[in-house]
Amino acid sequence: MTVYLSGQFLPIAEAKISVLDRGFIFGDGVYEVIPVYSRRAFRLDEHLRRLQHSLDSIKLANPHSNAEWTRLLNELIARNVPEDQYLYLHITRGVAKRDHAFPVPPVAPTVFVMSNPLSTPPAALLASGISAITAPDNRWLRCDIKAISLLPNVLLRQMAIDAGCAETIMIRDGEFMTEGAASNIFVVKNGTLLAPPKDNLMLPGITYDVVLELAAANGITHQVRKVLVREVSNADELLLTSSTKEVLAITQLDGKPVGTGKPGAMFAKLHELYQNFKRDVMRK
Ligand code: PDD
Repeated sequence: MTVYLSGQFLPIAEAKISVLDRGFIFGDGVYEVIPVYSRRAFRLDEHLRRLQHSLDSIKLANPHSNAEWTRLLNELIARNVPEDQYLYLHITRGVAKRDHAFPVPPVAPTVFVMSNPLSTPPAALLASGISAITAPDNRWLRCDIKAISLLPNVLLRQMAIDAGCAETIMIRDGEFMTEGAASNIFVVKNGTLLAPPKDNLMLPGITYDVVLELAAANGITHQVRKVLVREVSNADELLLTSSTKEVLAITQLDGKPVGTGKPGAMFAKLHELYQNFKRDVMRK
């Protein structure tokens, strides 16, 4: 497996960073996850735009222009074997003496990119759906930044695993749903798709955008607005989206079936539309 580290392509075992890297010391950095289908990066412009938003939000200069990113990522895709991959981009504020304040003068950022084989959910999981739990959203107020400091998300995901589930749906202030520990969540009620608004309390998912675009283009009734906790517990269907999971049904929540307890009609429709979109836009 070939990775990119600050100017060099090299085998992953040779990619080394300093223990003083501010990513290691403070979690001072941002990241992106980009699916690659048939060696083409999915929604690259949108991912690079979100990366720019994350970098701007932490006042870190983008080390590359979009043209440079595109060249670099395509080179990494070409150097790795699988046709379908996912790229992980990780940019930190670089190596400096330990001090919370930004280094003055600024140091070179650390830029790391790796590619992994993309394995989308297997047929059995698509057919059964997954189980989830709910938990209070105890994160900070800038969840729109794709920050590498993911400790709350790690603990929330592990809470689900420890309960024999796959994901945790987060509830803010006991009132409304934000997202999953590493995914966005949609609620379906009476044929309407409900999505929480892209604000500072959730990560603006690229898959979330695709799903809403597909809903709009195919006459699926949808609303983007705050989704209340009781709408989550009374949902006919719950859907999870992310770059690596695409669209999945959540069929059990807090130990109870969601709707019929089986993936529903909205899941079937959106999953099909998503697969068609991938095939038509990416694979040709
Ligand atoms: N996570 N919300 C959170 C907190 C996430 O971590 C993710 C993705 C999403 C979905 O965003 P997108 O559709 O752009 O993948 C929402 C990635 C996959 C990860 O951290 O591995």
